[in-house]
Amino acid sequence: MTHINVAIDGPAGAGKSTVAKAAAKELGILYLDTGAMYRAVALKAIRLGINPNDAERVRPMLKNTHISVENDGGAQRTLLDGEDVSGLIRTQQVSKGASDIGVILEVRQMLVREQQRIAQNTDLVMEGRDIGSCVIPASPCKFYITASSDERAARRLKELEASGRDEGKTLEQLKAEIEARDYTDSHREFAPLTRVSDAILVDTTDMTIEQAVKTVTDRVKAVYYNEAGGKD
Ligand code: DC
Repeated sequence: MTHINVAIDGPAGAGKSTVAKAAAKELGILYLDTGAMYRAVALKAIRLGINPNDAERVRPMLKNTHISVENDGGAQRTLLDGEDVSGLIRTQQVSKGASDIGVILEVRQMLVREQQRIAQNTDLVMEGRDIGSCVIPASPCKFYITASSDERAARRLKELEASGRDEGKTLEQLKAEIEARDYTDSHREFAPLTRVSDAILVDTTDMTIEQAVKTVTDRVKAVYYNEAGGKD
C-alpha cells in the first residue's frame, strides 16, 4: 500500500507549521515537524557548550545522540536521548542553533534517514526545508509555503508576545533574524531550502489559514483519494 506522503517546505514563519498541522488533522494523518529534530540536536550541542557552527565538535557528538518523535494525540513530542525536550527547543537561541547545525552534512544524513523511515511506514504531512527536495522527493503532493519577510516578522512578534517570550525584540530585529536564517537555510551546501519545480506555491501573505489549508487538503484528496472519497 502506498502511504500518503505530503511534503511542505518553506522559510521560517511562513505559516508552514500551522497549515501542516491543520491539514494533517483534517486528513486524519500524522504531522511531522522536522525542524524540531534539528532543534533537538542544536539543544544538545548548546548544553554541552559546543557551538552549533563547529562541525568538528558536532560530528563526534552525533555518535551517541538519538533523536526520535512520538505522537501525543496529534501533537508531536520530540525526544533527545529519551528526554522530552518539546518545551525547551522554541527559544531564539535554539532557532539560530538549528539553522547553523543544519548546515552539517552528517546531521542531515542522520535525521533524513529517520524521517524517511517514518514516511515509508506512515501516512503523514511532513514539514521542513528539504522535504520535497531530499526526504520524500517522490511525493506527488509537494507544497512551498511562503510569505513576505515583513509579514513573517509581524506574525513572529505577535506569537512571541502572546506567549510572553518576546525577549524585548523589536519588529526590525525579528525581521533581520528571520532574513539571516533564510539566508543560511537557502545558501548552505547540502540540501538548501529551495522550491522544487513540482511544488505548489502557497503565498500566505494575504491568505487566511483556512484558504491555505484547503489548498493543501484539496490537492491531497485529488491525488490520493478514490472516487468514493476514501483512500486508495
Ligand atoms: O522549521 P523550524 O523553524 O523549526 O526549523 C529550525 C531550523 O532547522 C531551520 O532554520 C533550518 C533547520 N531545518 C533544516 O535544515 N531542515 C529541515 N527539514 C527543517 C529544519
